[in-house]
Amino acid sequence: MSNAHLAEPFKIKMVEPLKIISKEERIEAIKRAGYNPFLLKSDEVYIDLLTDSGTGAMSDNQWAGLMLGDESYAGSRNFYNLKKSVEDIFGYKYVIPTHQGRGAEQVLFPQLIKKGDFILGNMHFDTTKAHIELSGGIAKNFVIKEAFDTQIPHPFKGNFDVLKMENFIKEKGKENIAFILITITCNSAGGQPVSMANIKEVSKCAKKHGIKIFFDAARYAENAYFIKQREESHKDASIPQIIKEMFSYCEGTTVSAKKDGLVNMGGLLCFKDDEKLFKKCQAMCVVMEGFPTYGGLAGRDMEALARGLREGVEEEYLKYRINQVAYLGENLSEAGVPVQLPIGGHAVFVDAAKLLPHIPKEQFPAHALANELYIQSGIRAVEIGSLLLGRDPQTNKQQKSPMELLRLTIPRRVYTYNHMDFIADALIKISKNAKNIKGVEFIYEPKILRHFTARFKLVD
Ligand code: F0G
Repeated sequence: MSNAHLAEPFKIKMVEPLKIISKEERIEAIKRAGYNPFLLKSDEVYIDLLTDSGTGAMSDNQWAGLMLGDESYAGSRNFYNLKKSVEDIFGYKYVIPTHQGRGAEQVLFPQLIKKGDFILGNMHFDTTKAHIELSGGIAKNFVIKEAFDTQIPHPFKGNFDVLKMENFIKEKGKENIAFILITITCNSAGGQPVSMANIKEVSKCAKKHGIKIFFDAARYAENAYFIKQREESHKDASIPQIIKEMFSYCEGTTVSAKKDGLVNMGGLLCFKDDEKLFKKCQAMCVVMEGFPTYGGLAGRDMEALARGLREGVEEEYLKYRINQVAYLGENLSEAGVPVQLPIGGHAVFVDAAKLLPHIPKEQFPAHALANELYIQSGIRAVEIGSLLLGRDPQTNKQQKSPMELLRLTIPRRVYTYNHMDFIADALIKISKNAKNIKGVEFIYEPKILRHFTARFKLVD
């Protein structure tokens, strides 16, 4: 292992024991789970890399905040602490707490979308796309083409192809575009950042055509750290300065607080200054999530989030966080395992199409790799490819994803560099025998969000 460790900027006060079951037991477990890692029990998993969402560790300061929960139905003091954190960090005046990111989406989207409208993004996350479609909209992606070649090390693979998007706006007419949504970092492209220059350019284009512009900001702090690292113009700016500037170009944001907000559950819907839209959403929030000063959250959870938002933008923390993910990714890459380059913020994305060229897309190479990784090492990871993408709603044909990726998603402040070494060793060993891995086919395929509950058998 050649890359440098950074010592963790925390010490460990409490531990959660991990158990590793035997290989024979893992073979039985994955068979019982229908060769779908989502259907494993967490007790059957050694290192869980399914997601970085809600799986992070809270700090002592956040846990202390839980004891200060004010569970008043209306006007909880924790709401005002949360509002102050949002104002200080995003520079946004209006805040609605929601139970998680999709809670914010379900409140906001129906206010903006009419049937047949287009919603333009770099690359929409799957639940975001689902909420767009539930509101009658059509989700369109305009991420730059470099994002689809894992071996091109473009520094901002989450960027929009603004020219292509602008042509689309002209072709369809601005009255048919509900809004533009910038996902930071771009999860589906590999946790890849969007540059400040690109955010500015998208915002300029939106203004020119009179189109509203929002962030899907789950990993905004990681995005800001990449801007500081990779964008010359911002190398001397602080993380809070960069975040404030990023948010100044948008009118509002949905936030899954389960990522950079450093809590296990929570979300936000925030607006810069659009009081009218805020009030409409507040009214809907009462019906869908809860009274506006608690939304979907307990008072104690709002306090943990108010504190987590501040911790999540500390530069020492972000340096450790990004470095740990890069450490795993670079070690894999140097050993010849093809991964999305450069390494993203919250996960390492293994290029399973490249690693397993003998498995056709219809047999889901990244999912097959996930099963093998579990069997060999007890690590649970997740497919981001054709299985996730699903069938064409019109023709019912399997759609081909531009990439077949296995996402090794790293929870925040949970695993150590020794765990990263264990993961890298396991995958490197598997990659040497990659040609023996078999594809999978459905024995049960649900109609919607099939990847969560589908069952498979191995293809001979
Ligand atoms: N937007 C992005 C970019 C996300 O990554 C997610 C969730 C959401 C919105 C929805 O937020 O889960 O709080 O409702 N991503 C998780 C993941 C589930 O595993 O990537 P949520």
